Amino acid sequence: MGPLSAPPCTQRITWKGLLLTASLLNFWNLPTTAQVTIEALPPKVSEGKDVLLLVHNLPQNLAGYIWYKGQLMDLYHYITSYVVDGQINIYGPAYTGRETVYSNASLLIQNVTREDAGSYTLHIIKRGDRTRGVTGYFTFNLYLETPKPSISSSNLNPREGMEAVILTCDPVAPDTSYLWWMNGQSLPMTHRLQLSETNRTLFLLGVTKYIAGPYECEIRNPVSASRSDPVTLNLLHGPDLPRIYPSFTYYRSGQNLDLSCFADSNPPAQYSWTINGKFQLSGQKLSISQITTKHRGLYACSVHNSATGKESSKSMTVEVSAPPGIGRLPFFTPI
Ligand SMILES: *[C@@H]1O[C@H](CO)[C@@H](O)[C@H](O)[C@H]1NC(C)=O
Ligand SMILES: *[C@@H]1O[C@H](CO)[C@@H](O)[C@H](O)[C@H]1NC(C)=O
Ligand SMILES: *[C@@H]1O[C@H](CO)[C@@H](O)[C@H](O)[C@H]1NC(C)=O
Repeated sequence: MGPLSAPPCTQRITWKGLLLTASLLNFWNLPTTAQVTIEALPPKVSEGKDVLLLVHNLPQNLAGYIWYKGQLMDLYHYITSYVVDGQINIYGPAYTGRETVYSNASLLIQNVTREDAGSYTLHIIKRGDRTRGVTGYFTFNLYLETPKPSISSSNLNPREGMEAVILTCDPVAPDTSYLWWMNGQSLPMTHRLQLSETNRTLFLLGVTKYIAGPYECEIRNPVSASRSDPVTLNLLHGPDLPRIYPSFTYYRSGQNLDLSCFADSNPPAQYSWTINGKFQLSGQKLSISQITTKHRGLYACSVHNSATGKESSKSMTVEVSAPPGIGRLPFFTPI
């Protein structure tokens, strides 16, 4: 049995600070050796497709090579190896049935799954005196094309200024960074917006209309990036102080009175009218045809938003002049 038939179980090596680029850590211990590089073809692979981990500048006179999933070179992570003498392939516990190692050390992974992303270690064994430790370890990080992310919200209908909203960018993917956009721009600096340590979660503390969105999140890895659809919060707010139109207060007897009331509110406010404190009707408009002096008084429009529980009101005094010829001087010149 050669050195390839069993992986070096005693050799538990973890390498911290794995390079984030699609390159490798070179532990080759012969300075004259051309640098072995590993490249993924295609560089962006999506789930269900095939990828070839192409090995360049493979040294001459090799006894064989072993591919490991991850950076731990133990039996558990042993995928497959190739023994040059006899052209033998050996399979280990990490072999999924989708990996093929070629005689030139390149590794084909078919029908890629999300679990295939991450690091791979290629262990190259030179011919000759093993005790001199003439071996090399090369780590490669395989990235998958980022899926289109989506935003989930703890509350899509927050009440203005009252509730914190938590937006989360899905999915969780390894070796991925998360970015957020509001109104198509990077997040404004405000104490109301806070990010989790990984940036995957965005906390909106007391949502106002200025920070209701739309929000987009983006996931990125060194080979690709994708952005979510925008999400805008349906901010429940108001009602603001209502306004009454028209705002003039003097009428002549016989004219029609048509008042409308409006207050900004989401959802729209419920409106009601009172005259001298007495309920008249529900609705935005109040109309009285051919008013008389007995319609003088204090007209008030009240608005209520049941979602926010807030209400407001506005009032105006309506004066009605007596018709000409009756009583005092006419208030308006008759036509
Ligand atoms: C290694 O072999 C595979 C399969 O024959 C081939 O696709 C690949 O290009 C080869 N790699 C190099 C570096 O020649
Ligand atoms: C690829 O994998 C999926 C699920 O892992 C499986 O359903 C499908 O049959 C596989 N396709 C091929 C061509 O192996
Ligand atoms: C989170 O985002 C900030 C910029 O908004 C960036 O400086 C930081 O590096 C990011 N953190 C991580 C873990 O990606």
